[in-house]
Amino acid sequence: MTAGTVERYSLIDCQPPRQDTVQEVLVGLSRTPKHLSPKLLYDADGSALFDAITRQPEYYLTRAELSILSGIGTDLESLVDSDAVIVELGSGSGEKTRHLLGMLPTAPAYVAVDISATALDGALDSLADEFPGRRFIGMVADYLAPVALPPEIEDRPKLYVFFGSTLGNFEPPEAIEFLHRMALSLDPDDALMIGIDLKKAHARIHQAYNDASGVTAAFNCNILNRINRDCGANFDLEDFHHEAEYQPEHGRVAMFLVCHRTHTVNVAGVEILFDAGERVTTEYSYKYSMDEFYALARQAGFSPVRSWTDSGETFSLHYLAPDLA
Ligand SMILES: C[S@@+](CC[C@H](N)C(=O)[O-])C[C@H]1O[C@@H](n2cnc3c(N)ncnc32)[C@H](O)[C@@H]1O
Repeated sequence: MTAGTVERYSLIDCQPPRQDTVQEVLVGLSRTPKHLSPKLLYDADGSALFDAITRQPEYYLTRAELSILSGIGTDLESLVDSDAVIVELGSGSGEKTRHLLGMLPTAPAYVAVDISATALDGALDSLADEFPGRRFIGMVADYLAPVALPPEIEDRPKLYVFFGSTLGNFEPPEAIEFLHRMALSLDPDDALMIGIDLKKAHARIHQAYNDASGVTAAFNCNILNRINRDCGANFDLEDFHHEAEYQPEHGRVAMFLVCHRTHTVNVAGVEILFDAGERVTTEYSYKYSMDEFYALARQAGFSPVRSWTDSGETFSLHYLAPDLA
């Protein structure tokens, strides 16, 4: 781990070694069906493209979550310990964080954990400007592995936040395991606030992942650029196209890259065969009903304390307390 101070905020680099990424890509592409981890979508270009997705008219998730956040200031004041440190997982551009920090003016510090160094840098740079006098720490890390918070933060009450329905990227058993690990590590006065996209008309969900401007398609295809650069591969983006479908039997959107022709691709010296029509899974986005999410949270060791939805009941935000502490 290396630490560096960049003016008004600190960035701690706990990135997994590049060799781990290469290994993970090779394992995923050797499976049937082929699979790539969604975290690979978020290099610098991928993070910028995700921000562009959140501005697409079809992508209701971000607007709905922001509209919930804008109405819960008083509730949060009474729920959150006045000196709680905010620890955000997968913080991205920090747009929702800006609202949260505005609602919690006494929170002394904010820690952002994200795999994307450029997203962290951009978010902390503007948040530190907007909220002077607070401590800002960024950790470039994979939250799938244990992340050790700085010791001065560890002993304080903490509000963990996990916005954007990013939990939906996990298959439900993995989501339970991930939240369970978190519940075990929380102290009794810590809490988790989590955003979860809700089940709704299938067409609306489908459109959100198939925007007319093709931004989600560009985001998905960019994973191949990233693998070419970071894993020494020779994917030709012309050989693949984006596909995303809502699978009601699983309650999820599955996002794929579909191969146009049978050919081999060299990834870090290994020749991998792709068949014409073969689909490589790049992301799942599970949707839940309120009751399904409550059951999942309880199974993981959390008690639902308070939940909010937007006026159209498209998205939900939950304040959970650890049951296991
Ligand atoms: C769906 S975006 C959500 C961004 C933001 N929280 C929002 O609500 O708009 C997921 C975010 O999690 C980060 N991320 C994805 N997988 C990760 C991982 N394994 N470890 C750390 N960060 C990850 C991405 O870089 C991205 O910023």
